[in-house]
Parts: sequence; C-alpha cells; structure tokens
Amino acid sequence: MAKDFVVTPWEVSGDIDYEKLIRDFGTQPLSQKHTELIEKLAGRKNHMLDRKIFFSHRDLDWFLAEYQKHKQVALYTGRGPSGPVHLGHLMPWFFTKYLQDAFKCPLYFQMTDDEKFLFKDSLSQKDTLNWSMENSLDVMAVGFDPARTKIFIDTKSIAKLYPLALEVSKRVTYSTAKAVFGYKDSSNIGEIFFTSVQSAPALLPSAEARQKKGAKGDEIVPVLIPCAIDQDPHFRVTRDVAQKLGFPKPAEIHSTFFPSLAGSGKMSASDPLSAIYTTDSEEVIRKKVGRAFTGGRPTVAEQRKLGGNPEICSVCQYLKFFFEPDDRKLEERLRAYKNGEILDGENKAYLADKIVDFLAEHQKRREQARKVLDKVID
Ligand code: TRP
Repeated sequence: MAKDFVVTPWEVSGDIDYEKLIRDFGTQPLSQKHTELIEKLAGRKNHMLDRKIFFSHRDLDWFLAEYQKHKQVALYTGRGPSGPVHLGHLMPWFFTKYLQDAFKCPLYFQMTDDEKFLFKDSLSQKDTLNWSMENSLDVMAVGFDPARTKIFIDTKSIAKLYPLALEVSKRVTYSTAKAVFGYKDSSNIGEIFFTSVQSAPALLPSAEARQKKGAKGDEIVPVLIPCAIDQDPHFRVTRDVAQKLGFPKPAEIHSTFFPSLAGSGKMSASDPLSAIYTTDSEEVIRKKVGRAFTGGRPTVAEQRKLGGNPEICSVCQYLKFFFEPDDRKLEERLRAYKNGEILDGENKAYLADKIVDFLAEHQKRREQARKVLDKVID
C-alpha cells in the first residue's frame, strides 16, 4: 500500500513512489533507448543509468539530438552549501562528470549560498560562503575538467546572474511561486525571489553566446541539468519562462535519492548517523556503517535460515547505488544475502572497506583541488 511521501526542494521524506512522482511532476520516464544512446555517445556504460538510479527526464531526446547535430551544449548543476558534503551529494556529480566527459562540454556549477542563508535560520552569510568554498573542493575532487568548469557562488557571481534573474523574476507571479513552492504570508521575500537566481545559470550559456561579438542574437546552447528530482519544481518555472524570453527550455535528467544509513528516506544532513561525510575519518566511517539499518533478521540462526531483504537493507542499497559498480558481483552478493549465505556483519565490513578506500582517494583529490579553485570559481 502506498504510504504518504513528500518531495519538494525543501523537504524529502517518507516512502517515495518514483512512478507516482513522474506522474505528479509530469516528467518522462528514462527509457532503455535513452540509456543506450547516452552510453553509445559516452563510449562506456554507467551503472547509474543501467540500474535506473537516474530514472526520469524532461526533453532529453531534444538535448541528445541537438548534441548529435551541433556538439555545442552545456551542463548545469549545483549545490546548496549548508554543511559538509555527504556521499548522497556526490552521486549526481559523478554522473555529471560522466556526461561532461561524454559531451566534452562546459559545466556551470551553482553554489546557492544565498538560498541556504535565506532558508536556514541558523546560518549566517559567512557560514554559507565558507561552506561554498569547502564544498567546491568536493566538487572539483570529483574530477571535472577545470578548463571547462565554472563554479558560481551566488553572492560572488551575482553580477553575471542578476540580469537573467531579473528577466525571470519579472515573469513569475507571486501566485505561481506560491502554487509551485508552497510559500506562505510568513515566508521572507528573499525566498520568493530565489527561484529566479536558480534559473539564471540555465539560460546563461545561450545568453553568453548571444553577447559574443559577431553573434546573430539567436544562438542556442542546449542545456542539460542533471539533478535529484526534488529540484524539478524550480526548473518547471525556468522552462516556462525560458520560452517567453526566447531561450530554449533546459532539459533535465533526474536521479532518485541516495539511501539513508538509518533506513527509509534520503540521506539527511540533519541526522548525523544517517550520512557519511566526505571528510569522515576511517573510524567514523566504520562506526556509522556498523550501526546501519539492514535487511537482516533478529538472530544469526534466523538469517541463515530465512535470508535477508536487500530491498530495505541500506548496506545493500549503498552497494547498488555506488560502491559495487560491477553488475555481476552485485547480483551475486545480493543473491547470497537473500539466501542467508552472507550475514550483516560481513556485508557491512565489505561496504566499509569500499567506502574507506573511496574516501581516502577522494580526500587526496580534495586537497589537490585547492590548486584549481581560483581558476574555476567565477
Ligand atoms: N537548490 C539546490 C540545493 O539546495 C542547489 C542547486 C542550484 C542545484 N542549482 C542547481 C541543484 C541545479 C541541481 C541543479 O541543493
């Protein structure tokens, strides 16, 4: 039976029915055809496509057709810098890197320090700017091409974004914003304006092309936005307005949410045990994985006899989402878990080893990224 769930840019909770979300949001399911075409263009497979971790889209066919015709496209994604980056945040970024490698195109990455200042009572502008810098290290540690990547920290890059944000804001009424985002009379007025700032980078590639000397003024740079599906409401607004402004509607490709170690719901920054941060030490990683919610049984004897349930097991889900990209190995492990051949202790140790190795490497790259920050922050 379907339970209640909530997915908005400000709240994700409950047991999410992704098919219902596609219907409610009016997006399109990602098909085998899309997966095959992207993997063909990229020249390699991607487990996040094959396992339907990316599952939904808007106008992806148009974007891919444009790419095949002109090869001039751009990617846009972002991060709300309200605290340290956790594994759930990295996942869409790794996918975005796969797309940047495939399309050899610019990436516009937005750090919405303004958003997090406006929406979080506990954060000052100094805090959100500080998190913007810290989080940018994680972004670049993912391996984006520094020559093709621009990070916009909103309060710093606002001069580039503001003219477009203004054009957008003039065409979004309060009643639309209220209907899409659920604002109340008590919402601060910065919150209400904010969606126009998040729209701006989606229009910027075409706007920049039009400003170039010699440009005819009707240049189009198709934009694809890889993001978790909770960001779609923003881009619904963007797409409506883009058309009114004579810009192409940005395409989107949506991911499901990275599982929480605490069980159902997405990995949440507000429950410290539910998430692994990129800066966690080996000891902390092992402790968190050790306490993870699993699909096991109350006793070893029962688990041997009845087997575990990988569907609800956060350890199995971590392997599926990120840490066991080899399909054959994953299948074998999940089968053995279901049969009671693998118990939780062993499964947790297997995952913890993978996370420890991965983060040791990430932390190294994160330090090296200090050298390129100056170059990529706009
Ligand atoms: N609002 C997003 C967040 O809170 C950050 C963001 C800005 C973003 N632009 C984006 C996310 C584009 C995905 C795509 O995380």
